[in-house]
Amino acid sequence: IALPPSEVPSKSKVVWEKFSHHSKFQRKLYHFGTFPQDFSWGVSSSAYQIEGGWDADGKGPSIWDVFTQTPGNTPADATGDVACDSYNRLDEDLYMLRALRVKSYRFSLSWSRIFPDGTRSSMNQKGVDYYNRLINGLLANKITPMVTIYHWDLPQALQDRGGWENVDMIDIFNDYCDFCFATFGDRVKLWMTINQPHSIAWLGYGLGTIPPSIKNPGISPYIVAHNLIKAHAKAYHTYDDKYRTSQGGLVSIALNADWIEPKDVNVLREVRAADRALQFQLGWFAHPIFKNGDYPDAMKWQVGNKSELQDLSESRLPSFTEEEKNYIKGTADMFCINHYTTKIASHVTGQLSPYSYEQDRDLSETEESDSPTTDIKNQRAVAWGLRRLLNWIKEEYGNPQIYIAENGVATKSSTMWDDSTRVFYYKTYIDEALKAYELDGVRVNGYIATSLMDSFEWLNGYKVGFGLHHVDFSNTNRPRTPKYSAHFYYYVIKDNGFPRPDDEKIYYYEKYINQVLKGIQVLSWNTFKTRAERKTKCSKMFYCLLVFLKRLRPRN
Ligand code: NOJ
Repeated sequence: IALPPSEVPSKSKVVWEKFSHHSKFQRKLYHFGTFPQDFSWGVSSSAYQIEGGWDADGKGPSIWDVFTQTPGNTPADATGDVACDSYNRLDEDLYMLRALRVKSYRFSLSWSRIFPDGTRSSMNQKGVDYYNRLINGLLANKITPMVTIYHWDLPQALQDRGGWENVDMIDIFNDYCDFCFATFGDRVKLWMTINQPHSIAWLGYGLGTIPPSIKNPGISPYIVAHNLIKAHAKAYHTYDDKYRTSQGGLVSIALNADWIEPKDVNVLREVRAADRALQFQLGWFAHPIFKNGDYPDAMKWQVGNKSELQDLSESRLPSFTEEEKNYIKGTADMFCINHYTTKIASHVTGQLSPYSYEQDRDLSETEESDSPTTDIKNQRAVAWGLRRLLNWIKEEYGNPQIYIAENGVATKSSTMWDDSTRVFYYKTYIDEALKAYELDGVRVNGYIATSLMDSFEWLNGYKVGFGLHHVDFSNTNRPRTPKYSAHFYYYVIKDNGFPRPDDEKIYYYEKYINQVLKGIQVLSWNTFKTRAERKTKCSKMFYCLLVFLKRLRPRN
C-alpha cells in the first residue's frame, strides 16, 4: 500500500516541534543502552576509492579514471590508479574486517571491471572472479556482504553515449544489475542499487564538480534523477520477478541527507524552508520510492512555479505517468541512509536566472556554527542531527527499517594512530542512533562506519581519510594500520552499543534501592490504616521492585 503524498510542509515537521526546543544540555545528554541482538554492525568502502588496478586484467576505464588522469582535477593530481591496491590485497582487507569483528561489509562493484564497456557483451571473467573471491572470503569469515552495485564509477563507454541523461541507461543499468543478481545473488542477500543518486544528479550534472562534470544546474539534474529513479525501480522489479523467490534477499538504494534545522523554529516560513530542503535532497528520491511513486508536492510546486515565471512551456521537473508511479512506489525493502552533518536553512527567494535546482528551493543553507568543525569544509560534527533525521524518516516514510549505510568523519591523512576526534564523532553519533532506537522507537537495523580504511577521497584526493585504518600511500605495499577508532569501534560492536558500566549502575539504581528499602521499612501491616491504602502502598513498592529487577537484568 502506498503512503499518501507529503503535505507542504510535511506532517513530519513534528520532529522540529519535538526536538528543536531541547536545551544544549538535553541534546548532549549521554544515553546508555544497547541495540537489538541481531543489529548489523559494519564498515564500508567503494570500488574506485580502494581497488586500484584501474586497467588490470581487462578492466575498462570509468569516468573517474578519465577525470583523475586529467591533470588539474584533484589535489596533487591524485588518482585511483592504485589507491589502497585492494584488487591485489584482498586478504589484507579481509584480515582487517575479521579483526574488527564486523557483522557486515559494504563494498561496491566496479561496473567497468565486470563489463569493460558497460554492457554484457564485454563481460570480463577476471573481474567477476575478484568479486567472487571477496564474497566467498567474507562468508568464510561469517561477514555479511552488502553490495552497492553502482557507486559513481560509470564506465566511460556509457558516458560517451550520454551517461545518465540518456534514457537508454535504464535498460543498460538493469541488465548490469540482472547479471550481478544472477552471478552473486546466491551469496549476496543485501543489495543497494545506486549510491547517493543526489550527488550523481547534482554534483555530476548540475554543479559539475564531479565527473561527468556537466554544468547544467536547472535542467540536467532533474533529467538524470528521473532516469536514475526509473533505473533503480527497474532493477528492483527484475530482482522481484527473477530472483527473489530463489534468493530471498533485500534490495534498496543508498540515499544521502544532511539534517536540516530551521533558522528559527518558531517562524513557520523557516520551518517550511527546512522542510523544503529535506524534500529537495532526500524526498526527491525517497518520496517516489517510499511513498507514492511521485516527487514531493513541495518540489512540484517550486519547480513548476519557477518554470512558469521563466516563461517555459512546461516544468523543468519531469513528470511520471500513472503507470510509472505504480511501477516506482514501494521499490525498496529497507531505508538506507548516508549521513554526515547538519545544516541550518532559512527562507530566501531564489533567482530566476540562470535556471538552477539550488535556486528552485527558495532557501539558503549555512553551517551549524555551534558544533565542531572537521577536516572537510562544511562538514561539522553535529551528532544530535542524526537522531532528528532518523525520527524524520520514521515519520515521513511510515516507520521503515533503517540502515545507517554511511556515517563517519575525515581526519588529515597524516593521522596515523591518534584519531580521537573520530572516536568522539562515532561515540556521539552512534549514541544518537541509540536514542532514536531506544527512546523514539525508530527501527534502526544497522550501522555502517565509513570507512574501513583511508582511501581515495574523491575531490579531496589523499589529503584526508575517513578510515578506521591508516594506509601509507607512499609505500608500494600500502600497509594498513589500525587507528585508535578501530579499537574503539571493536568494543562498540562487542558491547552492541553502550551498556551502562557497573560503577555507574550503583548511582543510577540508588533511587530504586532507596524506594525499595523505604517500602520494606513500612512493611508492617499496621502502618496502613485502610485496605485501599494498603493496596496502593504495596503495589507501588512491588512496582519499584520489579523496575529494579528489570533494570538489573543483563540485556544480551
Ligand atoms: C559519500 C560517498 O558515498 C563516499 O564514497 C565518501 O567516501 C563519503 N561520502 C565521504 O565523503
